[in-house]
This record gives sequence, C-alpha cells and structure tokens, in this order.
Amino acid sequence: MDSIPAHVPVRSKVKVTAIPGDGIGPEVMQATQQVLAAAGAQVEWEEALAGAEAFRKGIAAGAPQETLDSIARNGVALKGPLETPVGYGEKSANVTLRKVFEMYGNVRPVRELPGIRTPFSGRGIDFVVVRENVEDVYAGIEHMQTPGVAQCLKIITEAGCERIVRLAAAVAEAEGRKKVTVSTKANIMKLTEGMLKRVGEQVLKDYPSLTHEHMIVDNCAHQMVIRPEQFDVTVMTNMNGDILSDLAAGLVGGLGVAPSANLGDEAAMFEAVHGSAPQIAGKGIANPTALLLSSLMMLRHIGDFATARRIEHALYVTLEEGKDLTGDIARDGEGVPTAAFVDRIIANLGRESLNVPDREYRPIALKKWPQITWYRAASTRELVGVDVFVESERDPRAISITLQAAAEGSAFDLTMIGSRGAQVWPDVGGHTFLVDHFRARFMFREPPKGNGIAEITDLLQRIGRQHNWMHIEKLQRFDGADAYSKA
Ligand code: NAI
Repeated sequence: MDSIPAHVPVRSKVKVTAIPGDGIGPEVMQATQQVLAAAGAQVEWEEALAGAEAFRKGIAAGAPQETLDSIARNGVALKGPLETPVGYGEKSANVTLRKVFEMYGNVRPVRELPGIRTPFSGRGIDFVVVRENVEDVYAGIEHMQTPGVAQCLKIITEAGCERIVRLAAAVAEAEGRKKVTVSTKANIMKLTEGMLKRVGEQVLKDYPSLTHEHMIVDNCAHQMVIRPEQFDVTVMTNMNGDILSDLAAGLVGGLGVAPSANLGDEAAMFEAVHGSAPQIAGKGIANPTALLLSSLMMLRHIGDFATARRIEHALYVTLEEGKDLTGDIARDGEGVPTAAFVDRIIANLGRESLNVPDREYRPIALKKWPQITWYRAASTRELVGVDVFVESERDPRAISITLQAAAEGSAFDLTMIGSRGAQVWPDVGGHTFLVDHFRARFMFREPPKGNGIAEITDLLQRIGRQHNWMHIEKLQRFDGADAYSKA
C-alpha cells in the first residue's frame, strides 16, 4: 500500500465545506472564519446544511445530499455542533457524516492552554487521544434478549485496529512525538479489546522510532489524572476513547476549548467537541476557541502550516494576556461578546507566544486503504460446538435436565450453563444472581462430517420444544486456537 500525504499543497484557495450547525454553531463558525480570513488562510468556504434544520425539512439522516456531495467533492469540512431534535428524526447527523465517509479516526489533541486555569495548570500536559470512530459497541447492534435482558454487540475488526493504530503512529510522526500508548481492556475482553492490543504490538514494529507501550484502560484513566504529562499519543477503541478523550479534555479546560478531527480516506471533518449550547445561542457570547483550534488542525491538514501557527500564537497571546475573553473563560468572570474576543485575536496576529510548543508539524501520512472486502484466511478451521442462548425462569439444575434430555440422540453433549458469563451448571459453588437468560454450551461429541449446520439445526429444534432460544454462537477454532471465550 502506498503512503500518501493527506494534505493538498496550498497553491490556490482550497475549498472547504463549512457546516455552521445549530445553536451557537453559526456564531462560532463566523468567528472562526473571520480569524482565518484576517490571517490570510487560503480557504474558500462552501456553506452546507446539517442538523436541526435538515431534520425539520424531513431529512431523516440529518444532512441533505447536497451536503454529502459538498464534503465528497472537497474532502475537507469544518463543522459546528449539530443537535438531534427529538421528534423529527432519531439518527444523529454527526454519526451519519462520520459513517457515510467512514471517518474512522477521531483525533483529539489535549494541551494545556495559557490563561485557562485548571487544577493541572503548569504540568505541561500535551498529548493526543486517537479514538477509533466507527466500530465497537457504537455499531449500535442491540437486541432485547428477553423483556428484561438487553444485549449490544461489540464488533472489533483486525482491519479496523490496523487502521487506527497506523493512524496513531502517523499522528505521532507528523507531530514529532515519541511514544504510542495502546490502551485496552484486553485483560477482560481478550478477543475484542485484545485484538487492538495484539495488532498494536504487531503494527508498531513498523515504526522503530516510536516507543510502544500497552496500558489497561482503567489504569489509563487513573494515570491521566495522576500523571497526565507521561502521555504522548494514546490509541483506544471507540467507547474507551469516547470517555477518556472527554476526561482528557477536562484536564486542560473542558469541552469548551477542546478541538477534534475526524479522519478517513475520503474526507476529513474538523469540529469542536462541545455541543450547540442552546442556553446561550443567539446571545453573541459563545467562546469560539474550540472551533478555532479545530480549524488550525484543518489548516495543517490542507498544508497551510504557516497560517495555523500564526493564528495559534495570536490565540495563545490573547489567552495569556487575559483581556477580552468570553465569559466562560474570563478570569474576573466579566466576559466580553464573541466579536470583541475575535477582534482581540485578530489584533494579536503577528505576535508570538512563548507558550506555543515548538513543534515541527508535518502532514499526517494517512494510509490509503484499498476499497476491498477485508478477508482474513485461517489455515485450519474447526467447528467444535455451539452456545445456545435460552430464556428460562427455571433454576440451572432444572434447565440442565431438560437441555440434556433435548441433546440426547443429537450430535452434542451439554457441557456448561452460564448466566451473564458465570458458570452456574455444573455448580461451582458461586453466588451468581440469576435472571431469565442462560447460555448453554453444547460440544460436538465427534467432529461433524460436513459443515455441522444439519446437526445444529437438529439441536435447535430439540431445544425449541422446551425452551425459547434467542440466538446461537458457533464455537470455532481458527489455526488451532479457540475462537471463543471460556465460561
Ligand atoms: P453543550 O456542549 O452544548 O453544553 C454544555 C455546557 O457548556 C453548557 O453550559 C454550555 O453553555 C457550555 N458551552 C458549550 N460550548 C460553549 C462555548 N463554545 N462557549 C461557551 N459555553 C459553552 O452540551 P449539551 O448541553 O449536552 O448539548 C446541547 C446539544 O448539543 C444537544 O442537542 C447535543 O445533542 C448537541 N451536541 C452536539 C455535538 C456535536 O455536534 N459534535 C457534541 C455534543 C452535543
């Protein structure tokens, strides 16, 4: 695969889709555009609609086709916050945009800002959280198993892990960083979270200049609070990254000043982390810092490093001096309107701050992933059994009797019954709380001659005479290793 620079060299103006969004979105967008124009950014904006107004127009995805076309054409978007109005559509327009363009990488810089006082000020916090953005439990595949038991599938793919680890490495290289911390819950979820750990160990060998470490994600949360300065680039699956990137934002001033990028092969979308702040919308007092910082990531993405640096210095000088800040960050609590803050930043263009890290930014060398169906072969595959999930209000011993009777004459032996991951039959003396949802593990007595489907179907019919079963999972072995968790 070729490594291609993700940026477009700045020669003429670069067209960027601007989605002002909802609530304070149009205000912070206008403020950001003003600063970029004053700094001479070579950007031509193409305004596009998404969010509440799109829902009101009956567009269930929250973004009309013209907006999707604009992003597809330009490949770069700057986006204000979008609300999901209850009653018009149930999808999040944000999720739609991320999924349509497969923006798999969420990049969240976490850096101490001058003048923004936090309990961590002075510690020199400066790291990046790279969060996988499209897989994991956010695939949203949920099913009620019984009226009282819900299930959500956690989908983690090897290809998805490789993409996000390589993106984390590319971010580290682009910013001259030295260490990538892969943070997972592999100790508990050995197959799903463990996949990111394993892929991280493998893939990061290709980047000898980067130190690689693995950290269990709960300890990572703890370490981020205890000693946040140890982190450089961290990479996580979607939900862990969602939670810890917000925690990390809290270390340096909160969501109001946190920028982000959503990166994919086809498009990149930059946005503030905060929402539409409806309470202050239209009052002209919103803080545009988060969107402005996001626009600096965008400028670097399109290759305009000099303008990004100029604006970054002007913003830092403004924050340092503490004059003309919006109410949410004003030191005396006396905030000025957004427009006055913007004027102050523009007046400070050309001034240098000593607080901006001396960092040689380079374009993020994103891999261009081929559009194929990722297929991973195994040299051997065996089907050794099946887990059948059944609903029952009986106790495990009684269930074992009916299930053993059902399996009699079938190709299987009942070997175990579990409740929410704990073995409850054969009795191991635990004190497991019981609900009406059980996993019954049946193992083939002898390896099936064909694909095993006929035997499984026969078993399910037998079980179905006595029990309501919800779903099954095949128990397989790939390359001689068990491809399922133990009880
Ligand atoms: P929010 O981020 O809009 O507001 C939380 C608090 O922070 C409020 O007190 C608000 O006034 C303040 N705040 C946020 N940004 C600010 C800024 N730039 N300047 C000054 N104060 C600021 O979060 P909330 O209230 O949970 O969500 C409101 C709406 O935004 C919801 O409809 C939600 O779905 C949407 N949302 C959209 C996001 C996106 O488009 N990426 C992200 C988060 C929420």
